[in-house]
Amino acid sequence: MSLRLGVNIDHVATIRNARGGAHPDPVLAAKIAAAAGADGITAHLREDRRHITDADIAALSAEIALPLNLEMAATDEMLTIALHHHPHAACIVPERREERTTEGGLDAAGQHNHLAPLVRRLGDARIRVSLFIEPDPVQLRAASALGAPVVELHTGAYAHAVIDGDGDRTARLLDRIREAARVGQEMGLEVHAGHGLTFDNVKPIAAIAGIAELNIGHFLIGEAIFTGLEPAIRRMRSLMDEARA
Ligand code: PXP
Repeated sequence: MSLRLGVNIDHVATIRNARGGAHPDPVLAAKIAAAAGADGITAHLREDRRHITDADIAALSAEIALPLNLEMAATDEMLTIALHHHPHAACIVPERREERTTEGGLDAAGQHNHLAPLVRRLGDARIRVSLFIEPDPVQLRAASALGAPVVELHTGAYAHAVIDGDGDRTARLLDRIREAARVGQEMGLEVHAGHGLTFDNVKPIAAIAGIAELNIGHFLIGEAIFTGLEPAIRRMRSLMDEARA
C-alpha cells in the first residue's frame, strides 16, 4: 500500500492572521504543497477561526486540484459548512477553545449518539468521514460501529515521548499505534495517522504498513521558514518513502 501525505496548511493562516491582510496565502501554500508531492490538503476550520477562515475554505474548495480534508468539530455549524463546500473528506476532531492544538483523540465510544447522525449525514453526502481517535481498540470499535470508513490515529503522545527522549515510552506508544493500525485494518477501516510528526519521528510511523495516509502541518510550516515550503515537503515525502520501502 502506498502512503499518502496530507499537508495541513493551518499555520500559514496563523502567520497571516498575526497581521491581518492576505499574506502568506494558504491557497498558494496548498499549490506549492501539490507541486512538492503532497497527495492532499488538510485544513481545520476551528470554532474560534483562529487560523483558517470560512473564506479560506471557500477559496481552497474553488482553487485547488488536490483532495481537501476538512478537519471539523462535531457541531451543526460545521456540518452545514461541510455539506455546503463538499470537501473530499471530513475529519471529525475534538475541540476545546482553551487548547493550543487538538490535544487528544475524539471519544467516539462515549459520544456515539451525538456523532452517529453527523457521520451519517456526511456519509450520505459522499464525504469521506474520518474520526481522529487515540490508538485504542475501544475507540476503533466505536468508530467502526459508527460506520466511519476512516480513522486517523493521534500520534501526539508518541511525538512527545520522542521529544522527552524516553525510549521505553516511545517504544510502547509505537507498539500501540502499530497494533491499532493492524486492528483497524482488520475491521475494514482505512487508517491514517498524524499530529506532531517531524523529520525526526516520522519514519517509524511511515513504516507501519497498515497506515494509508499521514497528515502533517505545524512542523512543515515551521521548517519552511528555514528551507522553504517545497523543500520541506519534498524531504518529508522522501523520508516517508524511504521508511515505507
Ligand atoms: N491530524 C489532525 C486530525 C489534526 O487535528 C492535526 C492538527 O491540526 C494534524 C493532523 C496535524 O498536526 P501537526 O500540525 O502537529 O502536524
